[in-house]
Amino acid sequence: MLLVCGIISALSYRNDISNDLISALERLEYRGYDSAGIAYLDNGNELKRIRTVGKVQQLKEAVEKANVKSHIGIGHTRWATHGKVTEFNAHPHVTDGVAVVHNGIIENYQDLRKRLISEGYTFESETDTEVIAKLVASHIKTGKTFLDAFKCAIAEFTGTFAIVAIYEKEPSLLLGAKRGSPMAVGISPDKQSAYIASDAVALSTLVDELVYLEEGDIVVVKKDAQLSYEIFDASGSCTNRQVVQNKVSLNDVTKNGYETFMLKEIFEEAAVARRTYERFNYDTEVAKYDNISIIACGTSYYAGVLSKYWIEEIAKVHVDVEIASEFRYRKPVMRKNSLYIFISQSGETIDTLCAMRLVKEAGMKTLALVNVDTSSIAREADYIVKIEAGVEVGVASTKAFVAQTLSLLIMCAGKSAVHIDDIEHSINSILNGNYDFAGLANKLKDSRCLFYIGRGTSYPIALEGALKIKELSYISAEGYPSGEIKHGPIAIIDENVYTIALAPFDQYFEKTVSNTQEILARNGKVLLITTEDARASLHGLDENANVECVFLPKCETLYYPFALTTTIHLLAYHTAKAKGYDVDKPRNLAKSVTVE
Ligand code: F6R
Repeated sequence: MLLVCGIISALSYRNDISNDLISALERLEYRGYDSAGIAYLDNGNELKRIRTVGKVQQLKEAVEKANVKSHIGIGHTRWATHGKVTEFNAHPHVTDGVAVVHNGIIENYQDLRKRLISEGYTFESETDTEVIAKLVASHIKTGKTFLDAFKCAIAEFTGTFAIVAIYEKEPSLLLGAKRGSPMAVGISPDKQSAYIASDAVALSTLVDELVYLEEGDIVVVKKDAQLSYEIFDASGSCTNRQVVQNKVSLNDVTKNGYETFMLKEIFEEAAVARRTYERFNYDTEVAKYDNISIIACGTSYYAGVLSKYWIEEIAKVHVDVEIASEFRYRKPVMRKNSLYIFISQSGETIDTLCAMRLVKEAGMKTLALVNVDTSSIAREADYIVKIEAGVEVGVASTKAFVAQTLSLLIMCAGKSAVHIDDIEHSINSILNGNYDFAGLANKLKDSRCLFYIGRGTSYPIALEGALKIKELSYISAEGYPSGEIKHGPIAIIDENVYTIALAPFDQYFEKTVSNTQEILARNGKVLLITTEDARASLHGLDENANVECVFLPKCETLYYPFALTTTIHLLAYHTAKAKGYDVDKPRNLAKSVTVE
């Protein structure tokens, strides 16, 4: 498996592009944060490189120390795939004056590496990226121009990737290629600088308008009398791609007074729900299908699991929910008159994208529920429903989950049947309520492992709660249907294990409470998250020394998942904080998974 890294590159009339590269890498850090680096041509057009292991801050300090003056450069923040986290493996990779950065994977790199070794090249890293620099350099050696050498090299690669390259003998040329991984190009409003980057977040504050490359495109950025770029499509023909506004604002990519992006994004959940509701104007008519299949990964998958309860109950349509990485590799039977819904915050998750391609090949209708409407999944689907979460920078998805689930509820119930005031109020009552989530997190943080349990629509929230705890606090946490605990997992329960039971006062309340009794009988500890109207029905449970209770405000049963979502997000946040971890950049993760 491989996660996307971040790319930025610049060609300018100015001599200070290192500032732009570093500020963009800071914004891109959520893409990968094992190591980072830049390569640039100095005033004498000599290729220089600075790489550091760790966060972008380390690179920033090294670049400041080196007093970089440059008009052209490329930068990268890495999430390790091929090769460990070392300076040698960090990008850019450099050979004979060619420097490259790369997202994605070169699948045939072993064969190319052998060939290049036989041509006399020696490799200093364990990465697939180094073959790119060497292959371009080897084509230049045969007399080709930088552009022709780049094109020849790209044609030899298999896999999915986004690549940017510079060459010290052609100091006014910046080249990029896109296959599978996203890439965008734009020129600054003052026409002084041009940039190629892996996403609009990198380009925010740098360009107002940008162009997203299409599959197989090569972009050539040139500096002559003026800055310009040309795009060549997969067949090599010069082409035009649509210019779009860069919708990412400074507010989207700054913490705005919050300590972390994750906290800022949790505190946006009520506003995101309101915005998603107000802008929702899709006629999706789920009830006209005989079957709905929902395919996604991670948190997006859990949004799908929640919607199954709603769609089957409200629209009375059968729903399957599948993990994309499994769906795409089995031989799924596609049913007639089915709608296939692909949920993805980023719109770039490769397993979800490939599952969608499989469904399209079978002639089925596909709907993308995405946050990024310029993403690959959005572009390839038959229908798009865009959620209005805004840019999500925290690696753990939070506000997007709220927008996804709300959109799915509107899709099956109809807009007029969904009371956004109640949902907004319900989320706000958690955000602004007098809850000691930090105190509760202190109790959870030393648990040997955690269970999150729930029934009905609380079960998918339990799954989401457990995922958030494990990815941020590194505590092994499992989401389970309450009724399933005694079919095995209860063996794990002892005095060192906390179970978080999601039990609003709905039709499942009594059952979940009796499951917590089974846990208490085995000396387990319980954090019961319920609602105010359940107090009288607890029968002393809240007085048990091994039980902590949180009472959420009562609301319509249909909307409990929203209050519970904000609650479990805050609990995950505070548990990670209590353990002293970086919530925005949890270890081993990055934001979007663009290669399987
Ligand atoms: C968890 C999380 C991931 C993503 C998953 C799918 O907090 O963020 O599990 O939900 O990688 O990503 P998208 O929705 O971009 O397809």
